[in-house]
Amino acid sequence: MRANPGGEIPPEEVVGRDDLIRRIWRILERQSLVLQAERRMGKSCVIKKMTARPRPGFLALYRDLEGVKAPLEFVETVFRDVERHLSRLGKIAGKARNLAHKLRGVQLGKVKFPRELAPNWKLLLEATLRDLVTQQEDRLVLFWDEIPYMLQNIQAREGESQAVDLLDNLRALRQTLPEIRMVFTGSIGLHHVLSSLRGDLSHAPTNDMYVLEVPPLEEADAAGLALALLEGEGIRCSDPRGTALAVARGVDGVPFYIHHLVDRLAALSGPVGPADVEALIEENLTHPTDPWHMGHYRERLRVYYGDREPLALEILDTLAARPGGVSFDELTALLQATPAHPGPEEVRTMLADLARDHYVTGKRGIYTFLFPMIRRWWRLARDL
Ligand SMILES: Nc1ncnc2c1ncn2[C@@H]1O[C@H](COP(=O)(O)OP(=O)(O)OP(=O)(O)O)[C@@H](O)[C@H]1O
Ligand SMILES: [Mg+2]
Repeated sequence: MRANPGGEIPPEEVVGRDDLIRRIWRILERQSLVLQAERRMGKSCVIKKMTARPRPGFLALYRDLEGVKAPLEFVETVFRDVERHLSRLGKIAGKARNLAHKLRGVQLGKVKFPRELAPNWKLLLEATLRDLVTQQEDRLVLFWDEIPYMLQNIQAREGESQAVDLLDNLRALRQTLPEIRMVFTGSIGLHHVLSSLRGDLSHAPTNDMYVLEVPPLEEADAAGLALALLEGEGIRCSDPRGTALAVARGVDGVPFYIHHLVDRLAALSGPVGPADVEALIEENLTHPTDPWHMGHYRERLRVYYGDREPLALEILDTLAARPGGVSFDELTALLQATPAHPGPEEVRTMLADLARDHYVTGKRGIYTFLFPMIRRWWRLARDL
């Protein structure tokens, strides 16, 4: 297996995840779901593998929606995916085609919905999905990657109400078409997009969906991936298993960094070992060009938390400096000495938000960074 950080990985090279995938199919038997994780954790790999090898009885369609900026564009994208599938069965999305033809009054030649159809996107979406549901037997799973990004794009270009309307409409379709399952995922947390739309939301448009977290790889899978990549790259190792384990542990089992690290190891001459792994991690975390984009963990705090950014910083600085973690009482006492003087409720709310955004974990009442590598970078970047 060759290192390919961030690239397209064939399904057979998606390591581990079998239990997770089984669990997702089980959930999809009954309901739709939101798949969330820290960026680069391997969400897209999981759903692409599921699309390539669907469970019998399911038809799975994958689409990256990052470039979509309007509801009609979204419907057009779904229509194309549906027709691509139907054409393999020698069929077409007739209801949607007829509707588009009737609404616009001209024959729809190519699959491009003209802008005049924009007010009718809901009807077109329902017709498109009905075309698929009624023309084959399998249950339909729509894996929609980067849906939060699409919603942000729609919010920016078409206005907040259009984004809200789309979410509401998708929810309504999940109710009226029980053969359909939707899987939402993306590199931005859906909760951030939903809270930016909150002004207009009188109800939660995804509260019928199961929320599932994609964790890092299990240590054995992470080390297995590292070993397969070390071998695939023909890297000479003094201690192959020890080196693979150092890679897996050093980057908290996050597959993207495993690929990246092995790619860097391949550029070194001579046999490599755990010490080289360690040196490369340090280099990536401290290099001025920030090759792993760790600065993102600092920069996004303002976007995520607005005027609560100083409190988030104080909490993370405090936790970063204490390897064993701190209790809630200790933390609130330590924060009293800072300019923010936060009350316990403010601290509690901030901790909950930081936990949801994968910075912090508070198991058994002791708060620490969730990912040791992010803590390590935080300390290096902020001279703690
Ligand atoms: N299970 C896996 N086995 C092997 N490599 C993986 C696995 N999961 C992810 N990768 C590696 O990590 C890279 C990033 O994975 P992926 O694009 O699935 O992450 P993501 O969570 O969707 O990221 P983003 O948040 O940026 O959308 C892949 O290109 C691949 O190199
Ligand atoms: Mg992705």
